[in-house]
Amino acid sequence: MNSIPKPDITVPELAEKVVVITGGSRGIGFAAAKELGALGATVVLIGRNPENLSSAVSSLVGLGIDADSICVDVSDSASVSEKIGQHSLAPQADILINSAGVMSEKMAKTLRTSSQEWHRVMGINLDGTFNLISAIGPQMAGRKSGRIINVSACLGRFSGPGLAGGLAPYRISKTAVNALTKNLAAELGNGSRGVLVDAMCPNHTRTDMGGQDAPRSAEEAADTIVWLATREHNSETLTGLLWEDRKVVPW
Ligand SMILES: NC(=O)c1ccc[n+]([C@@H]2O[C@H](COP(=O)([O-])OP(=O)(O)OC[C@H]3O[C@@H](n4cnc5c(N)ncnc54)[C@H](OP(=O)(O)O)[C@@H]3O)[C@@H](O)[C@H]2O)c1
Repeated sequence: MNSIPKPDITVPELAEKVVVITGGSRGIGFAAAKELGALGATVVLIGRNPENLSSAVSSLVGLGIDADSICVDVSDSASVSEKIGQHSLAPQADILINSAGVMSEKMAKTLRTSSQEWHRVMGINLDGTFNLISAIGPQMAGRKSGRIINVSACLGRFSGPGLAGGLAPYRISKTAVNALTKNLAAELGNGSRGVLVDAMCPNHTRTDMGGQDAPRSAEEAADTIVWLATREHNSETLTGLLWEDRKVVPW
């Protein structure tokens, strides 16, 4: 663990918090890690590529953020369980952000999608989300405290721009992430037992996935994630929902 003095903007509520962020090595996950780290949290980035992870951690540490990483393929449940279990902080994370994700092949309509492609995308986007929740969620439930934020996509909604055909494995993996979110939130009493579980849509964002012509920056996309991770939790707090730009949107 790289431990160095916290930046001046540390807020007391996050100073002792540990945030695990899958997909934290790049894109939206990295932007969320940077913001939460700047607010004083210790961030543990999860990714597959060791070089990307090491460069992300170095860059955060250079900004005065307490950062570490776990190199693991989120779709591999046994490895996720083992690597999270071996880490000194990750099993007791206060906040879990599931941002790791992959796009499906272009034009991947259902009838043109191979079984291999289907399972590749589902394995990372859906199983990966489940695997991290399984490794960290029980401790949150036991402590009656925690936040789980699943980075979904508007393309997976049953309304608005969602499920309009094409990109089938990607869209359906995100629909399933939404279902997982709502179902888990209900199982945990929709916030009444201390754990908030929500999904969010970042919208089309300039990352390796979204491309350089996308309208919003990774920082703009991460804003709702950071807000969900840091907002006040009381009896009025809305949870078990899908969020976009800090507002609830229909599933
Ligand atoms: N960008 C958009 O326009 C957009 C729009 C809507 C929703 N989203 C969602 O936002 C999330 C983040 O997207 P992004 O644009 O930031 O993507 P990105 O820039 O392509 O970054 C993807 C991240 O996921 C990690 N990852 C991929 N497969 C993994 C695996 N098997 N195991 C562990 N880590 C893995 C990557 O790690 P490595 O560096 O190790 O590969 C990387 O950190 C995704 O869930 C995506 O579906 C994005």
